[in-house]
Amino acid sequence: MNVNKLIRNRRSIYPSQYSGERIDDATIRDIMENANWAPNHYHTEPWRFIIFKEKGLERLMSTLAELYKTHAGDSFQQPKYDRYFARANQVSHAIVVAVEYSEKPNLPEIEEVEAVACSVQNMLLTASSHPEIGGYWSSGMLVYLPEFAEFLGLKDNQACLGTVYLGTLKEDAIRPKSTRTPIGDKIKWVIQ
Ligand SMILES: Cc1cc2nc3c(=O)[nH]c(=O)nc-3n(C[C@H](O)[C@H](O)[C@H](O)COP(=O)(O)O)c2cc1C
Repeated sequence: MNVNKLIRNRRSIYPSQYSGERIDDATIRDIMENANWAPNHYHTEPWRFIIFKEKGLERLMSTLAELYKTHAGDSFQQPKYDRYFARANQVSHAIVVAVEYSEKPNLPEIEEVEAVACSVQNMLLTASSHPEIGGYWSSGMLVYLPEFAEFLGLKDNQACLGTVYLGTLKEDAIRPKSTRTPIGDKIKWVIQ
């Protein structure tokens, strides 16, 4: 597919638009292989992934639901809690994304996070090259909680950056519209 088309047509498509049908693991491995080819400073390759499917996916979603219940306080909404459980039947694979900070003395942590974000974009673009696959990067405050890091078994030099949800799109899936303000407003050209 033409690269401009691939990049501009990629959309965040949410689990309510997924059928629950599984994506085959070979396709997921292909998406992950492309994640591994992101640019990274000092060759640290700081991206780490934990892939949840089937019973693992159910466990992930119930963990997030319970964390939501514990931490929502007065803003708790039962439908939102229920949506975590529904998600286990909509999503095919949930790929938790983490950064592993290296001990390189001159490498700012932000550069490791930037490299992981590049790897996630590789994943989303690869997923988007399959017309039947929908996906998006989900964060939210829960993924930054120490309890969640513990559930994931993250090491002290690792931090969770969110989850990429992937699913097979329903036949009549709605592709959300997205807009951007002109790139010209975000660029300054310096010519002398
Ligand atoms: C770091 C990051 C975290 C995000 N977290 C969420 C999230 O928690 N919930 C959500 O609905 N979308 C999330 N998104 C997706 C954005 O909402 C989406 O990219 C944005 O609306 C633009 O739409 P598009 O991706 O279709 O162009 C996240 C995106 C990024 C880059």
